[in-house]
Amino acid sequence: MPNDDRVIQRAASVEQRVDAVQAALDARGMNATEAVDELAHKATDEWVPRNGARVVAKAWVDPEFRKRLVANGIAAVAELGLSMPKHHRHLIVLEDTPKVKNVICCTLCSCTAFTIIGLPPDWYKDFQYRSRVVRESRTVLREMGLDLPQEVEIRVWDTTADTRYMVLPEQPKYTRGWPEEKLVGIVTRDSLIGVARLEER
Ligand SMILES: [Fe+2]
Repeated sequence: MPNDDRVIQRAASVEQRVDAVQAALDARGMNATEAVDELAHKATDEWVPRNGARVVAKAWVDPEFRKRLVANGIAAVAELGLSMPKHHRHLIVLEDTPKVKNVICCTLCSCTAFTIIGLPPDWYKDFQYRSRVVRESRTVLREMGLDLPQEVEIRVWDTTADTRYMVLPEQPKYTRGWPEEKLVGIVTRDSLIGVARLEER
């Protein structure tokens, strides 16, 4: 048997290989380093769950906005200065109720409405989550800390390349009457994905 350890030791690290690819593209005038820096900035500073939290808070305090949001997600989030890539052709907003819990996933890979709800967490991309949440959603949610009563219907939505989802969680009763800006602070990423409810106090 060849000694695989030696082969692995000789291979460049992922970082070194990325640097080499970037340098090769830069040398051909494709500005890869600039593009990567811009992408990194967007991923950490612009594509954040706070965007979705702003959408949710507005929907809670403004019933007319809520109607527009459910009718046409992309047009409604644009009112808040938020946009989605061209290939995200639809933003479907899923309203939780006391009787219905919506959960999103991407059974194929890792698609989300990332400019609105943030980049997907690692567990969302995990094969276990992607395969099990559609078959045994109640059990998976329980394992993730959300133990739903039997009478609550769970609807699982499988994201596609052009159709993206966002869950509109129920507003906790204790926050009724709060100003919009304060409501933004209680909306979590997991509630936008649908694997968590916003707890009552
Ligand atoms: Fe995907």
